[in-house]
Amino acid sequence: MAQILREGKLFHLRNDQISYVLCEMPGGVLAHLYFGARLEALNPVNLLRRAGVAADGSYSVQECSLDRLPQEYPSFGLGDMREGALTVEAPDGSTAVDLRLVSAEVLDKKPALEGLPATRGEGCAALRLNLKDEHTGLEVALDYAIYDDCPAVTRSARLVNGGQGVLNVTRALNDIDWELITLSGGWARERAIHRRPLVQGHQGISSRRGASSLQASPFISLVRPDTNEEQGEALGAALVYSGNFIAEAEATQYDFAMSRGFHRLWQNHLLPRRWVGRPRPVLLNSWEGCYFDFNEDKLVAMAAEAAKAGVELFVMDDGWFGHRDDDTTSLGDWGVDLHKLPGGLKRLGDRVRAQGIQFGIWMEPEMVSPDSDLYRAHPDWALHIPGRDYITARHQLVLDLSRQDVQDFIVDAVTTTLNESGAIYLKWDMNRNFSNIGSALLPPERQKEVPHRYMLGLYAVMERLVKAFPDVLFEGCSSGGGRFDAGLLYYVPQYWCSDDTDALMRCRIQYGTTVVFPASTMGSHVSAVPNHQTGRVTPMEARFAVAMGGSFGYELDPLKLSDEDRQSMRDQVAFASRTQNLRLYGDLYRLRSPFECNLTAWICVAPDKSEAIFTLVRAMSVPNLVPPIIKLNGLDPKKRYLIEQTGEIFGGDELMRSGLCCLLKQGDAASVMLTLKAVEAV
Ligand code: DGJ
Repeated sequence: MAQILREGKLFHLRNDQISYVLCEMPGGVLAHLYFGARLEALNPVNLLRRAGVAADGSYSVQECSLDRLPQEYPSFGLGDMREGALTVEAPDGSTAVDLRLVSAEVLDKKPALEGLPATRGEGCAALRLNLKDEHTGLEVALDYAIYDDCPAVTRSARLVNGGQGVLNVTRALNDIDWELITLSGGWARERAIHRRPLVQGHQGISSRRGASSLQASPFISLVRPDTNEEQGEALGAALVYSGNFIAEAEATQYDFAMSRGFHRLWQNHLLPRRWVGRPRPVLLNSWEGCYFDFNEDKLVAMAAEAAKAGVELFVMDDGWFGHRDDDTTSLGDWGVDLHKLPGGLKRLGDRVRAQGIQFGIWMEPEMVSPDSDLYRAHPDWALHIPGRDYITARHQLVLDLSRQDVQDFIVDAVTTTLNESGAIYLKWDMNRNFSNIGSALLPPERQKEVPHRYMLGLYAVMERLVKAFPDVLFEGCSSGGGRFDAGLLYYVPQYWCSDDTDALMRCRIQYGTTVVFPASTMGSHVSAVPNHQTGRVTPMEARFAVAMGGSFGYELDPLKLSDEDRQSMRDQVAFASRTQNLRLYGDLYRLRSPFECNLTAWICVAPDKSEAIFTLVRAMSVPNLVPPIIKLNGLDPKKRYLIEQTGEIFGGDELMRSGLCCLLKQGDAASVMLTLKAVEAV
């Protein structure tokens, strides 16, 4: 059970796994003392002595000991020389902030964050610490929650101007602390794991693109040099936010099982409730199958073929509206293209459903093409700086979602599309980052607020739509996984992980993604070969094994498959559905990293350890091969497990301590996928 203990000047947030301890220093400065494995109690003397605080608790600001004190919400300018979490410009032009604790309340419930995504309020203990800067009148409420079931603490900061003058907040961050791990990349190579020693000075990761972005994931982790997947200390912080961010390193600690801690936190307390634990339809998306080149009959034929294989949902991707035969036009004109689809969305939806398969659709609601009726009618609806030329990317501009009229337009367009088509799934795409950032409705001094106001607008739109269409499965997308973050996952239970569907590249992308996000959130599809992004030919078996690592589907034209592949598609869909609960909602353990060797391996284990599914992919074939032995993880050491594919039985202890010898076929991208079932001891 999570508890908030108040022991003298200490605030101790604790559950069965972790402790997070803060201390009010003389004068009210808030020190951060500990974040790690659960403690019964903490005598702060050791940690404070290191920071130059005398045994009686006194310290001297003149000697700059603030600089050595681990502070919970630090600021620069009054003795602390490090980068602060908060910078505020006061009316006198000064920027120093001196926050002191004025009161603390243990709350009955974690307060919601109006207009912003956040982990929910059930199953946690909550604390509010009220801080104030007397000089400016600035008040900061730090809200904490510690959950019963996760090794995680959440924190938000609410800033209120309690003074007379105008305060300008120029920096308001949430901060933390050996070796630094970040996830970064680019298009088709999202969330690669980067681990490097922590050195003096600033280091971290950020985005100024208007989205959390393909290049950077709003997550940072600090681990001991000897920490690995099985053991060691690790501290991680992820922002529940989808826009611009900075995640920078500072100094402290935490316990391991970080990824599973995040997975549980998001599953139990963030993702849309009605989709957690619920089966996700196996889908077939039309994009790589036909791109913009389709008509009604073609789509219905693809859907019919997919239905024969047992696929449950057919998704029409880009190209169905305006006169969009390529990506140069029509975003914003969400009327159907009657040349391609003469019966409109209704007839197409009905015909697809008549094949025994559900219908889903693609939209990119946040964008407008310069060649569109929408843009011609409302050029000021696009983000722009007056007097400067618009800069397009993928021939498109970004709508100004900070505006209410734009928000209403988007809600109307999506509502009409879903109602007309009867779609039970919507892929919400967003394919460019911001430039020319400016809003026609804001005065000059407020223009810098645009990126954040945009995010508030986006969240408001999402909130309205997911409320209005609770049974529609929304899948996020941003040129692949360009905005795959905990902010969006509050609204959409799954996210298209990457435009890169090459099995070997996907091993890396999915491996990195699972550092923070659970398998259920990763849209993951089998595509045709040669792969459209890399040109590589990999066996169907490997493409299937890798796509099974996430929310499963296909991204191809089933009519172009060989008879053999069509048969395996039927078997695959049945296997994917049968194992879905285990794959998506089981406890995930990474076993071999594609960033470190020629192998990628992971295992998903049922919470009661009665079954598991294990996957291994070897990237490159090597001559004179010795089959790899992989030590499994997460099993019950006392149970015996039947490997269904081979009929062999091994003890859980043996599989974890001695390992499983995996026979792989010759050739690149060789894979095995094995299901394990606990059996009575023989
Ligand atoms: C980018 C997405 O990542 C693709 O899957 C596809 O939907 C295209 N956009 C369509 O334009």
